[in-house]
Amino acid sequence: MAGYVAEFGKNGRPVEADGRLDAAAFHRNHQPIWAVLKDYLAGQSGDVLEAGSGTGQHVVYFAGQAPDITWWPSDLHAAHLRSIEAWRADAGLANIQPPQPIDLSDPAWSPAPSAAKGPDKLLAIFCANVIHIAPWRVAEGLFAGAARHLRTGGKLFLYGPFKRGGKHTALSNAVFDTSLRERDAEWGVRDIVDLEKLAESVGLKLAGSFDMPANNMILVFARD
Ligand SMILES: C[S@@+](CC[C@H](N)C(=O)[O-])C[C@H]1O[C@@H](n2cnc3c(N)ncnc32)[C@H](O)[C@@H]1O
Repeated sequence: MAGYVAEFGKNGRPVEADGRLDAAAFHRNHQPIWAVLKDYLAGQSGDVLEAGSGTGQHVVYFAGQAPDITWWPSDLHAAHLRSIEAWRADAGLANIQPPQPIDLSDPAWSPAPSAAKGPDKLLAIFCANVIHIAPWRVAEGLFAGAARHLRTGGKLFLYGPFKRGGKHTALSNAVFDTSLRERDAEWGVRDIVDLEKLAESVGLKLAGSFDMPANNMILVFARD
Protein backbone atom coordinates (compact mmCIF):
# COMPACT_ATOMS: atom_id res chain seq x y z
CA MET A 1 0.00 0.00 0.00
CA ALA A 2 1.21 3.48 -0.80
CA GLY A 3 2.39 5.36 2.27
CA TYR A 4 0.84 8.65 1.29
CA VAL A 5 -1.67 10.46 3.45
CA ALA A 6 -2.41 14.01 2.37
CA GLU A 7 -2.20 16.44 5.23
CA PHE A 8 -5.68 17.74 4.64
CA GLY A 9 -6.80 20.23 7.22
CA LYS A 10 -3.43 21.91 7.62
CA ASN A 11 -4.03 24.57 4.99
CA GLY A 12 -7.80 24.37 4.72
CA ARG A 13 -10.50 24.28 7.36
CA PRO A 14 -9.80 22.24 10.49
CA VAL A 15 -10.94 18.64 10.61
CA GLU A 16 -14.60 18.40 11.62
CA ALA A 17 -15.67 16.16 14.50
CA ASP A 18 -17.46 13.83 12.09
CA GLY A 19 -14.23 13.23 10.15
CA ARG A 20 -14.81 15.69 7.30
CA LEU A 21 -11.45 16.88 6.00
CA ASP A 22 -10.89 20.02 3.95
CA ALA A 23 -8.47 20.44 1.07
CA ALA A 24 -7.53 24.06 0.46
CA ALA A 25 -7.00 23.34 -3.26
CA PHE A 26 -10.59 22.14 -3.63
CA HIS A 27 -11.89 25.68 -3.11
CA ARG A 28 -9.70 26.93 -5.96
CA ASN A 29 -10.09 24.11 -8.45
CA HIS A 30 -13.56 22.55 -8.25
CA GLN A 31 -15.33 25.12 -10.42
CA PRO A 32 -12.68 25.22 -13.18
CA ILE A 33 -12.62 21.41 -13.19
CA TRP A 34 -16.39 21.16 -13.50
CA ALA A 35 -16.35 23.77 -16.29
CA VAL A 36 -14.44 21.16 -18.34
CA LEU A 37 -16.22 18.02 -17.10
CA LYS A 38 -19.69 19.41 -17.65
CA ASP A 39 -19.27 19.43 -21.42
CA TYR A 40 -18.83 15.66 -21.21
CA LEU A 41 -21.09 14.79 -18.27
CA ALA A 42 -23.85 17.36 -17.74
CA GLY A 43 -27.22 15.92 -18.67
CA GLN A 44 -25.83 12.37 -18.92
CA SER A 45 -26.85 9.38 -16.83
CA GLY A 46 -24.78 6.41 -15.71
CA ASP A 47 -22.05 5.68 -13.20
CA VAL A 48 -18.91 7.73 -12.61
CA LEU A 49 -16.12 6.55 -10.31
CA GLU A 50 -13.75 8.95 -8.61
CA ALA A 51 -10.36 7.34 -7.91
CA GLY A 52 -8.37 8.74 -4.97
CA SER A 53 -11.20 11.00 -3.78
CA GLY A 54 -9.23 12.33 -0.79
CA THR A 55 -11.55 14.46 1.30
CA GLY A 56 -14.63 13.69 -0.83
CA GLN A 57 -15.40 17.35 -1.56
CA HIS A 58 -15.13 17.04 -5.36
CA VAL A 59 -17.56 14.17 -5.63
CA VAL A 60 -20.12 15.99 -3.50
CA TYR A 61 -19.87 19.10 -5.67
CA PHE A 62 -20.05 17.16 -8.95
CA ALA A 63 -23.00 15.09 -7.73
CA GLY A 64 -24.91 18.29 -7.05
CA GLN A 65 -24.20 19.48 -10.61
CA ALA A 66 -25.10 16.19 -12.33
CA PRO A 67 -27.99 14.60 -10.44
CA ASP A 68 -28.71 11.92 -13.07
CA ILE A 69 -25.25 10.43 -12.63
CA THR A 70 -24.51 8.00 -9.81
CA TRP A 71 -21.16 8.96 -8.29
CA TRP A 72 -18.84 6.36 -6.74
CA PRO A 73 -16.07 7.91 -4.61
CA SER A 74 -13.09 5.80 -3.56
CA ASP A 75 -9.72 5.96 -1.82
CA LEU A 76 -7.38 3.61 -0.01
CA HIS A 77 -6.79 5.47 3.27
CA ALA A 78 -9.16 4.93 6.18
CA ALA A 79 -9.21 8.60 7.25
CA HIS A 80 -10.07 9.65 3.70
CA LEU A 81 -12.82 7.04 3.37
CA ARG A 82 -14.23 8.37 6.65
CA SER A 83 -14.09 11.94 5.39
CA ILE A 84 -15.78 11.03 2.11
CA GLU A 85 -18.56 9.26 3.98
CA ALA A 86 -18.99 12.25 6.31
CA TRP A 87 -19.20 14.70 3.39
CA ARG A 88 -21.68 12.33 1.71
CA ALA A 89 -23.87 12.26 4.82
CA ASP A 90 -23.61 16.02 5.17
CA ALA A 91 -24.70 16.58 1.56
CA GLY A 92 -27.60 14.13 1.78
CA LEU A 93 -27.55 13.58 -2.00
CA ALA A 94 -29.14 10.36 -3.19
CA ASN A 95 -26.78 10.02 -6.16
CA ILE A 96 -23.57 9.48 -4.16
CA GLN A 97 -22.70 5.90 -3.23
CA PRO A 98 -20.72 5.02 -0.08
CA PRO A 99 -16.97 5.29 -0.62
CA GLN A 100 -15.22 2.24 -2.02
CA PRO A 101 -11.88 1.09 -0.62
CA ILE A 102 -9.85 0.93 -3.86
CA ASP A 103 -6.07 0.65 -4.06
CA LEU A 104 -5.12 1.58 -7.61
CA SER A 105 -1.77 -0.18 -7.26
CA ASP A 106 -3.69 -3.46 -7.22
CA PRO A 107 -3.83 -4.26 -10.95
CA ALA A 108 -7.10 -6.16 -10.42
CA TRP A 109 -8.95 -3.42 -8.50
CA SER A 110 -12.67 -3.32 -8.98
CA PRO A 111 -15.43 -0.99 -7.74
CA ALA A 112 -17.80 -2.44 -5.15
CA PRO A 113 -16.13 -5.87 -5.05
CA SER A 114 -18.14 -6.91 -2.01
CA ALA A 115 -21.38 -5.01 -2.58
CA ALA A 116 -24.47 -6.77 -3.88
CA LYS A 117 -24.63 -4.41 -6.83
CA GLY A 118 -21.75 -2.37 -8.14
CA PRO A 119 -21.78 0.29 -10.83
CA ASP A 120 -22.62 -0.66 -14.40
CA LYS A 121 -19.96 -0.16 -17.05
CA LEU A 122 -18.68 3.29 -16.17
CA LEU A 123 -19.51 6.45 -18.06
CA ALA A 124 -16.29 7.98 -16.71
CA ILE A 125 -13.52 7.84 -14.13
CA PHE A 126 -12.21 11.07 -12.58
CA CYS A 127 -8.85 11.14 -10.82
CA ALA A 128 -7.32 14.35 -9.48
CA ASN A 129 -3.83 14.85 -8.10
CA VAL A 130 -3.06 11.18 -7.51
CA ILE A 131 -0.63 9.71 -10.04
CA HIS A 132 2.26 12.12 -9.33
CA ILE A 133 2.01 11.49 -5.57
CA ALA A 134 2.23 7.75 -6.01
CA PRO A 135 4.51 5.21 -7.71
CA TRP A 136 4.12 4.70 -11.48
CA ARG A 137 2.38 1.38 -10.83
CA VAL A 138 -0.60 3.40 -9.54
CA ALA A 139 -0.93 5.03 -12.98
CA GLU A 140 -0.61 1.58 -14.54
CA GLY A 141 -3.33 0.23 -12.26
CA LEU A 142 -5.58 3.21 -12.95
CA PHE A 143 -5.37 2.76 -16.72
CA ALA A 144 -5.74 -1.02 -16.54
CA GLY A 145 -8.88 -0.58 -14.45
CA ALA A 146 -10.19 2.11 -16.77
CA ALA A 147 -9.84 -0.28 -19.70
CA ARG A 148 -11.76 -2.95 -17.76
CA HIS A 149 -14.50 -0.81 -16.28
CA LEU A 150 -15.24 2.00 -18.77
CA ARG A 151 -18.02 1.52 -21.26
CA THR A 152 -17.22 1.96 -24.95
CA GLY A 153 -16.66 5.67 -25.44
CA GLY A 154 -16.23 6.12 -21.68
CA LYS A 155 -13.73 8.72 -20.49
CA LEU A 156 -10.88 8.81 -17.98
CA PHE A 157 -10.28 12.37 -16.73
CA LEU A 158 -6.90 13.08 -15.14
CA TYR A 159 -6.38 16.38 -13.34
CA GLY A 160 -3.00 17.59 -12.13
CA PRO A 161 0.38 18.91 -13.29
CA PHE A 162 1.95 17.17 -16.31
CA LYS A 163 5.16 17.35 -18.35
CA ARG A 164 5.15 17.43 -22.15
CA GLY A 165 7.90 15.60 -24.05
CA GLY A 166 10.19 15.61 -21.02
CA LYS A 167 9.72 19.31 -20.32
CA HIS A 168 7.82 20.99 -17.52
CA THR A 169 5.15 23.47 -18.57
CA ALA A 170 6.12 25.89 -15.78
CA LEU A 171 8.99 26.52 -13.37
CA SER A 172 6.68 26.00 -10.40
CA ASN A 173 5.90 22.47 -11.67
CA ALA A 174 9.64 21.71 -11.98
CA VAL A 175 10.18 22.82 -8.38
CA PHE A 176 7.18 20.77 -7.25
CA ASP A 177 8.50 17.73 -9.16
CA THR A 178 11.86 17.99 -7.40
CA SER A 179 10.18 18.22 -4.00
CA LEU A 180 8.04 15.15 -4.78
CA ARG A 181 11.07 13.09 -5.84
CA GLU A 182 12.94 14.16 -2.70
CA ARG A 183 10.07 12.85 -0.59
CA ASP A 184 9.83 9.59 -2.53
CA ALA A 185 12.00 8.61 -5.49
CA GLU A 186 9.03 6.77 -7.04
CA TRP A 187 6.83 9.91 -7.15
CA GLY A 188 7.00 12.68 -9.72
CA VAL A 189 5.11 14.79 -12.23
CA ARG A 190 4.16 12.45 -15.10
CA ASP A 191 4.79 13.03 -18.79
CA ILE A 192 1.86 13.16 -21.19
CA VAL A 193 3.89 11.14 -23.70
CA ASP A 194 4.32 8.30 -21.18
CA LEU A 195 0.64 8.45 -20.28
CA GLU A 196 -0.35 8.27 -23.96
CA LYS A 197 1.82 5.15 -24.37
CA LEU A 198 0.29 3.63 -21.26
CA ALA A 199 -3.21 4.46 -22.53
CA GLU A 200 -2.55 2.91 -25.92
CA SER A 201 -1.23 -0.26 -24.28
CA VAL A 202 -4.67 -0.85 -22.72
CA GLY A 203 -6.88 0.37 -25.57
CA LEU A 204 -7.44 4.00 -24.51
CA LYS A 205 -6.39 7.10 -26.41
CA LEU A 206 -5.83 10.73 -25.54
CA ALA A 207 -8.96 12.54 -26.73
CA GLY A 208 -8.47 16.00 -25.27
CA SER A 209 -6.37 18.21 -23.04
CA PHE A 210 -7.23 21.42 -21.24
CA ASP A 211 -4.97 23.99 -19.62
CA MET A 212 -6.16 24.77 -16.12
CA PRO A 213 -5.31 27.45 -13.55
CA ALA A 214 -2.08 27.13 -11.55
CA ASN A 215 -0.28 25.25 -14.36
CA ASN A 216 -2.47 22.19 -14.03
CA MET A 217 -4.20 20.34 -16.85
CA ILE A 218 -7.07 18.00 -17.48
CA LEU A 219 -6.25 15.08 -19.79
CA VAL A 220 -9.18 13.19 -21.29
CA PHE A 221 -8.60 9.58 -22.35
CA ALA A 222 -11.32 7.72 -24.23
CA ARG A 223 -11.96 3.99 -24.43
CA ASP A 224 -12.46 2.99 -28.04
C1 LIG B 1 -3.24 14.73 -3.14
S1 LIG B 1 -4.53 13.67 -2.69
C2 LIG B 1 -5.79 14.20 -3.85
C3 LIG B 1 -7.17 13.95 -3.33
C4 LIG B 1 -8.30 14.51 -4.20
N1 LIG B 1 -8.40 13.78 -5.43
C5 LIG B 1 -8.12 15.96 -4.44
O1 LIG B 1 -7.78 16.36 -5.55
O2 LIG B 1 -8.31 16.74 -3.47
C6 LIG B 1 -4.09 12.08 -3.30
C7 LIG B 1 -5.08 11.00 -2.92
O3 LIG B 1 -4.70 9.79 -3.58
C8 LIG B 1 -4.90 8.73 -2.68
N2 LIG B 1 -4.05 7.62 -3.08
C9 LIG B 1 -2.71 7.52 -2.97
N3 LIG B 1 -2.31 6.31 -3.41
C10 LIG B 1 -3.43 5.65 -3.81
C11 LIG B 1 -3.66 4.36 -4.33
N4 LIG B 1 -2.66 3.50 -4.51
N5 LIG B 1 -4.94 4.00 -4.61
C12 LIG B 1 -5.95 4.86 -4.40
N6 LIG B 1 -5.79 6.10 -3.90
C13 LIG B 1 -4.53 6.48 -3.60
C14 LIG B 1 -4.55 9.31 -1.32
O4 LIG B 1 -5.10 8.57 -0.26
C15 LIG B 1 -5.14 10.71 -1.43
O5 LIG B 1 -6.48 10.73 -0.99
